[in-house]
Amino acid sequence: MRKSGLLVYEILQNLAAMVKEGVTTQDLENAAERMIRDAGARPAFKGYYVPAAGKRYPYVLCTSVNDEIVHGMPSSRRVLKKGDIVSIDTGVELNGYFGDSAVTVPVGEISESLQRLLRVTQESLELAIQQARPGNRLFDICGTVERHVTQNGFSVVREYVGHGIGTKLHEEPQVPNYVDRSHENPRLKEGMVLAIEPMVNEGKPDSKVLPDRWTAVTVDGKCSAHFEHVVAITANGPWVLTRP
Ligand code: MF3
Ligand code: CO
Repeated sequence: MRKSGLLVYEILQNLAAMVKEGVTTQDLENAAERMIRDAGARPAFKGYYVPAAGKRYPYVLCTSVNDEIVHGMPSSRRVLKKGDIVSIDTGVELNGYFGDSAVTVPVGEISESLQRLLRVTQESLELAIQQARPGNRLFDICGTVERHVTQNGFSVVREYVGHGIGTKLHEEPQVPNYVDRSHENPRLKEGMVLAIEPMVNEGKPDSKVLPDRWTAVTVDGKCSAHFEHVVAITANGPWVLTRP
């Protein structure tokens, strides 16, 4: 999992460096697919069956721009422009083990409020990662994201959640970015591996899916940010597999 994690990291670094005005999300997709194949890995998203959509996802990346929350699809018609934010999410399978990570990248200079959205979302992920240690419970992670986001005046998306990960892309447990007493709250144990992925809205938390049945957008049209890391729970605390 460390190897698949580092591969995803390297791919996202390279894609983030490509992001600038005039680049299309299809350009990012093409570069990502080449990097994944060159590494002898398999894209984890392309062909992945998602029951809620009732079909297989057709790309190696999810590229979600501005008010798109997740599952935005790369397109040669989606030209990035100054002031946009673009979330790039990808997963790979390498030697049977999965990696999955996302970053949200500014296109040129972005507004101060969007800078704050990206900063708070990333901070909520870092704070949550610190909770991924034996003896804690799942809700320590969920509640940490929720608290940091809401205290800063933003809102947490409820319809999409993080997940266990290992020899499958999505394993138990679900990792919501909020505490919901109707979810299970297992104790965290050494050896568990979680994909923690806060999706944070500038405005209201509500989301809807576009007629393409993939792209999730904010209902109020305000922007949304997304960061994700895979974190192994070790006796020494959290080990982030998707960065060096
Ligand atoms: N955002 C999802 C995740 O990180 C992406 C996987 S769903 C797929 O788990 F359809 F894109 F494959
Ligand atoms: Co994920």
